[in-house]
Amino acid sequence: MWWRSSRLPLLLLFSFLTLSVGRAAGSGFRICSYNLQNFNLKKAASYRLIHTLTRVVSRCDICLLQDVIDSDGKAIQTLLSSLNRGTDRYDDDYSYRSVSSKGLGKSPDDMQQYVFLYRTQTVSVMDQYQYKSKQSFVREPFVVQFQGNSTAIKKFILVPLHTDPAQAIQEIDRLYDVFEEVSKKWNNKNVMFLGDFHASCAYVTRTDKKKIRLFTNSNFSWLIGDKVDTTVNDETNCAYDRIVVYGKPFLKAIMPFSAKVYNFAKELKLSKTKVLEVSDHFPVEVRLKSSALLLQATPLPILLAVSAVVQSFLSALFARRSDKYQ
Ligand SMILES: *[C@@H]1O[C@H](CO)[C@@H](O)[C@H](O)[C@H]1NC(C)=O
Ligand SMILES: *[C@@H]1O[C@H](CO)[C@@H](O)[C@H](O)[C@H]1NC(C)=O
Repeated sequence: MWWRSSRLPLLLLFSFLTLSVGRAAGSGFRICSYNLQNFNLKKAASYRLIHTLTRVVSRCDICLLQDVIDSDGKAIQTLLSSLNRGTDRYDDDYSYRSVSSKGLGKSPDDMQQYVFLYRTQTVSVMDQYQYKSKQSFVREPFVVQFQGNSTAIKKFILVPLHTDPAQAIQEIDRLYDVFEEVSKKWNNKNVMFLGDFHASCAYVTRTDKKKIRLFTNSNFSWLIGDKVDTTVNDETNCAYDRIVVYGKPFLKAIMPFSAKVYNFAKELKLSKTKVLEVSDHFPVEVRLKSSALLLQATPLPILLAVSAVVQSFLSALFARRSDKYQ
């Protein structure tokens, strides 16, 4: 029976290491994008809506909101207060801040803002830049460079876009020009594009993709695929909301298979009615690897190394014991 008791602590250590690796790989830094479909003071006045929205946003380290109509900032302030209230109901270890564009659009009665909400403990805003080219976009991207404190990639640029459906193809294509400009401006090619691109169904067909440089240039990776349904209604099945990243370094810093739709009707067991109160889109999200645990980048080699150590321990132990017991 001697071997059982001597092996036990090692086995415990081994399973602990396995667990820690598993846990680290399961967390990461979450970036979300959500079209809030006309989020204004009237919507923000609904306690139920703010409660739902707080549950959704509080999962994210950064959350891009689109279609926000809030020129005096009061609607977003209501959401921020709820996020920062710290009740037991939410993930309340974090406080949030926001950075917003001005109202953008072609008609005064439809001026929409891009709003980034972010956790002050995990990320900070380094720079912001309003892309200017009235001919290119109805709502020009409001570009923000972030710095994560524990992300594998420290500085990254987020380029939001809520396309005008009628010119979605041209607008998505022009994101390439935005990429060239901001990557030069900040000398950083770690660029992510996110938002409701209307990149599906009637607005962007398979043949239209040939006209979009973000599709034809293989340096861009589309993390939310064409078959995904980002809409809430049962009648629609369209991958409108997307996340795209530039380059191998950024791609490698993303947790595999973490890009997805957050169907919170299912996850939070909410009725379609409650979900549609907030928006007819679901949020999309992706997770970045963290730097704190380099383990998660290469769990297998680490595990192999650990098990090699365990094995040599055991064999040394066996050798000694068998000497003794002979
Ligand atoms: C990141 O860490 C540095 C150094 O510890 C600190 O000064 C900075 O405030 C942190 N940033 C955030 C967003 O927590
Ligand atoms: C992709 O990126 C590499 C490295 O920056 C560059 O050399 C190459 O020309 C790019 N490919 C395309 C199709 O733009």
